[in-house]
Amino acid sequence: MQSTSAESTQLTFTLAAKIVDRTARVGIVGLGYVGLPLAVEFAKAGFSVTGIDLVESKIARINAGDSYVQDVAGAEVSALVEAGKLHATTDFGAIADLDTINICVPTPLRKTKDPDMSYIVSACQEIAKFFHPGMLAILESTTYPGTTDEVVLPMLSHSGMQAGRDFFLCFSPERIDPGNPRFQTRNIPKVVGGVTPACTEMGALFYAQALEKVVPVSNTQVAEMVKLLENTFRMINIGLVNELAVMCDRMGINIWEVIDAAATKPFGFMPFYPGPGLGGHCIPIDPFYLSWKTRQAGIEARFIELAGYINSHMPHFVVEKIQNALNDRGRAIKGARIHILGVAYKRDIDDVRESPALDILHLLKNRGAIISFTDPYVRSIRIAGEDLFSTDLCVGASAADCVAIITDHTTINYQTALQEASLIVDTRNALRGFESHKIVRL
Ligand SMILES: NC(=O)c1ccc[n+]([C@@H]2O[C@H](COP(=O)([O-])OP(=O)(O)OC[C@H]3O[C@@H](n4cnc5c(N)ncnc54)[C@H](O)[C@@H]3O)[C@@H](O)[C@H]2O)c1
Repeated sequence: MQSTSAESTQLTFTLAAKIVDRTARVGIVGLGYVGLPLAVEFAKAGFSVTGIDLVESKIARINAGDSYVQDVAGAEVSALVEAGKLHATTDFGAIADLDTINICVPTPLRKTKDPDMSYIVSACQEIAKFFHPGMLAILESTTYPGTTDEVVLPMLSHSGMQAGRDFFLCFSPERIDPGNPRFQTRNIPKVVGGVTPACTEMGALFYAQALEKVVPVSNTQVAEMVKLLENTFRMINIGLVNELAVMCDRMGINIWEVIDAAATKPFGFMPFYPGPGLGGHCIPIDPFYLSWKTRQAGIEARFIELAGYINSHMPHFVVEKIQNALNDRGRAIKGARIHILGVAYKRDIDDVRESPALDILHLLKNRGAIISFTDPYVRSIRIAGEDLFSTDLCVGASAADCVAIITDHTTINYQTALQEASLIVDTRNALRGFESHKIVRL
């Protein structure tokens, strides 16, 4: 099915023209935290967008004009569905009528900390069945350098089709920051690298229709590595500051004051803050995609392994801190009531994936504590086979022997928490500015 050079020029011209006049039919595979906002952005830019996911309930909610992603307003989805700009389906056959496809499926780690590529592979197997000449495919899932060329390209190059001539293939890292009202899909610069220069150009042209700034790079591997650099940078700096927090704790120095003072340096310093451990499914996971890949090349990613070790120890450090604070007041952790404030993996979001709060609750339960929590964004969680439901702040804090602030949601009333608690361990400096004998800071 190889096209001649004239046919290839025609395919390029036709797709570029459809993209520019927004008649290109856009497809998004994987309608989660990344895929749904992207689908909405392209639909808002005037494209007709088809979302594809395996989960029937998500498809039904979108088609009913509803949103299940906190950063996407239900009203926005319903207006786009009503206008016929957004539609969702479980049927990959829809790809036969599409011009572009963005792949936004999960890329978790296996228990062994090896990349789990099964979602990308199974999505590409389905896409390949309906992939046709003249299409643009872009992988957005975070992954190790080489995935687009080594895994996706062979799957889409069936029937002799060649990238850059018969179709276009790129990698573009997703950089969203859930819960961040200032930076969302539209105004976060979009890095894109193609399998060939023609692929990069087509990918860049596509994103330029809906997003504010596009940053083309030379190839897919550079684009894949950009995301891993960004997240590894964060993970290692958090690891460094967590280690400093443990040191400062031993030396009786207030780490928060140290960071605030250091941050007054107008150059050469960027503040990172300690906390109870890493959460979410980016920062704790993505760097291990890189270390796995470099191990294949005989290089140990020592910074990543070390930061991973320090960060994963933080929940234990927090539990020790709670235990010591109780002991200092003549109480044992066994049988103590411990109330956790905030269980989401970070401030002002509802996502508990990989949240350190879950580890802390497990550890506390194992030590015989009676656990409870308040989180304005999370209704329930499951700890060691038991469902826990978010309770009222005043009730939970006043009944507890110790309150521990694990996630510093901005809507929590910390004054009330401090008033009601008899002891409060603050792992986020949420009680900045408050002075009380009840407070134990990380
Ligand atoms: N969430 C973030 O903040 C964030 C930020 C940047 C990058 N990423 C990366 O983006 C990717 C997607 O992350 P997410 O947070 O949107 O995940 P998610 O779990 O919220 O969404 C993924 C969606 O893909 C669907 N899916 C799974 N397999 C599928 C298949 N074979 N075909 C069709 N749909 C399928 C799932 O049902 C789900 O709706 C990951 O690689 C992640 O690392 C996430």
